[in-house]
Amino acid sequence: MNLADIDASAWRELETAAASPQSGFRFLSLCSVDAERRPQARMVVLRRADGSLRVLEFHTDTRSSKWRELSANPHATVLGFCAQARLQFRLQGVVELHAAGSDQAKAAWDKLSPWTRTTYAGGPPGDEHAFDAVDEAAPSEPSDEAEGKPHFGLLIFRARTLDWFQLRQQDNRRALLTYDETSALAACRWVNP
Ligand SMILES: Cc1cc2nc3c(=O)[nH]c(=O)nc-3n(C[C@H](O)[C@H](O)[C@H](O)COP(=O)(O)O)c2cc1C
Repeated sequence: MNLADIDASAWRELETAAASPQSGFRFLSLCSVDAERRPQARMVVLRRADGSLRVLEFHTDTRSSKWRELSANPHATVLGFCAQARLQFRLQGVVELHAAGSDQAKAAWDKLSPWTRTTYAGGPPGDEHAFDAVDEAAPSEPSDEAEGKPHFGLLIFRARTLDWFQLRQQDNRRALLTYDETSALAACRWVNP
């Protein structure tokens, strides 16, 4: 496989993963930098990938730390490993934030299942929660799915580089791919793993 093929197949892999819960790339680690310039990482679900735009889409609560961090500093790294494909992808890029009220957030919200909508209806992420008092057996009060809408946000990550790493029995392979402002592949080279 040449480097252009590797680029195309990596993005195909991500596009497929957005619709396949079994793919290792369905859950990715999204890393931001906080106000004290410390790295912060967390898992997120890959909701959509578009290889032609080099874009990955994530959903989150706009009251979360990641939203605050990315609003202040949109530079992010996305890291994933798929055991079946034996591939690690490390992407660096910039995140666009689309809060409630934006056309993008509205369109994404409209496609969510009622169950997923309720995940945005609780209290602010990270606030204290009295789990001790929660009776696992008793069904909790069903939350109104519309309650979550003002907290729902869309993160659109646009990759500028992809560090591609293939695990092999012998001689692992690694390639660095760079994209330009138009999302075209601008440079690519093999590097030592
Ligand atoms: C497998 C998995 C998938 C997750 N997906 C998401 C997600 O898509 N969006 C999200 O905001 N949090 C998701 N979370 C929770 C985050 O990892 C994180 O704990 C939470 O969003 C708070 O992060 P923050 O305080 O850095 O903002 C997921 C957690 C796991 C374990």
